[in-house]
Amino acid sequence: MSKRVYIHTVGCQMNVLDSEMVIADLKRHGYSVVDSPKNADCVLYNTCSIREHAEEKVYSSLGKLRQAKERNPQKTIGVMGCMAQKDQEIVFKRAPYVDLVVGPGQLHTIPNLLQKIEKGEGRQMAVSLSRTDGSQTVIARSHETFDPLRDPAMRPTPFQAYLRIQIGCDKFCTYCVVPNTRGPEQGRPPEQVISEARILAEQGCREITLLGQTVNSYRFKQDDRTTDFSGLLEQLHEIDGIDRIKFVTNYPKDMTERLLTTVRDLPKCSPYLHVPLQSGSDAVLKRMKRGYTVGDYMEMFERIERILPEASVSSDFIVGFCGETEEEFQMSVRLVERCRFKNSFIFQYSERPGTTAAKRYPDDVPREVKLRRNNELLEVQDRLAKEDNLKMVGSVVEVLVEGPSKVGKKSDPNAHVVQMTGRTKCDRIVAFDGNRRQAGQFLNVKVDDASCHTLIGRVQTVDVVSIGAPALS
Ligand code: SAH
Ligand code: SF4
Ligand code: F3S
Repeated sequence: MSKRVYIHTVGCQMNVLDSEMVIADLKRHGYSVVDSPKNADCVLYNTCSIREHAEEKVYSSLGKLRQAKERNPQKTIGVMGCMAQKDQEIVFKRAPYVDLVVGPGQLHTIPNLLQKIEKGEGRQMAVSLSRTDGSQTVIARSHETFDPLRDPAMRPTPFQAYLRIQIGCDKFCTYCVVPNTRGPEQGRPPEQVISEARILAEQGCREITLLGQTVNSYRFKQDDRTTDFSGLLEQLHEIDGIDRIKFVTNYPKDMTERLLTTVRDLPKCSPYLHVPLQSGSDAVLKRMKRGYTVGDYMEMFERIERILPEASVSSDFIVGFCGETEEEFQMSVRLVERCRFKNSFIFQYSERPGTTAAKRYPDDVPREVKLRRNNELLEVQDRLAKEDNLKMVGSVVEVLVEGPSKVGKKSDPNAHVVQMTGRTKCDRIVAFDGNRRQAGQFLNVKVDDASCHTLIGRVQTVDVVSIGAPALS
């Protein structure tokens, strides 16, 4: 009987994609996937280190596996992803029944390491080099991806896929662990990206989302030829079968005139721009070492408004960063009011060991102040998003249907009419009454109502005009 693997994934889209790859790889090695840790021979946690809370949740879930491991010592427990890279041996110390620790740059080693564990060779660990462990090239090489393995069965929907174009990050924002966990920034060779996109199209994928920590800073240099992000978009646009191209996350300084005109001129490119601002205060941005001022961001924002007036822009904010005063926080509120983002992800600052902020600045904003600022900013963001969504009532939007709605109106699994959801080109979520067969189709939906996160509508029926029939008077 084949070995059964269960995988639990937390964190960002990079992790979702990594889990897809690991499962594709393990399936090639004879594993089958199960949907509960109980029935699994191998339980894998794909982890995130971005905030302390994300890590604590994993350690507490691991704690629950202790008994299962005592009952069945043959069960293999693996921790992969950013927390594995960051904590390394600490994972074994905190959870001694873990057998395997693998960083995000070493995922291709998993089948081999599992085999070693099976043979009785004991605990295994594979992590990438840290930033001070050798030359740039050697460090970069230790952060590998093995992206060409694609398995449509592991994707939330077969017609949508993530496609990594960039590994790592070199921005070193002072609060962030990613440059350490994911290593140096490396653009993947354009030929690799294009051939992977072709495979995805052949698998029936209609929408790809390009992934990179600063996706629009993408560059690949070969001999004397450099491909930039716009150049890559132009090549991807040629692929038959791919109808929509999205990309996340953007870095404000690299949102150039050239990129915006490329997005405007290529109809498959989604005018949805996730460009995190993080704070509305220059002093805070400086402490974060984000590399731009509020003035720079607004210049970029006005460039978007001029070149792509239809675009939807979204952002991330950190509230309660070291030394953030009430006045500095209010500047973030004012920027949300000015920019009217489609949505904003708002996070309370969480000090991360090993980062510059942890070394340099005290985490001095009290927990309850962080929480209050979080709620206040979210309230403004949601109010404005609802106002803007309500302005769309009466319009018709094109939606790529994803599947039955997971939240809200529950529907009978056997019912003919169910609440379906999909997304517009600008990444707005649209809910409507439909049927399951519509998943994967592009449909026109007329908007009847809206909340801060969702447009609610009904499928637009096409008016049939009978050609050649006598006109009715
Ligand atoms: N590369 C992306 C973001 C990756 S992390 C970018 O630069 O925009 C996603 C978000 O998590 C960040 O945008 C930031 O808002 C938040 N974040 C990162 N580190 C954090 C920390 N230590 N505490 C709280 N939020 C954090
Ligand atoms: Fe982290 Fe900054 Fe890199 Fe984003 S750009 S991953 S926030 S260091
Ligand atoms: Fe988390 Fe790593 Fe992504 S820290 S947000 S899983 S890059």
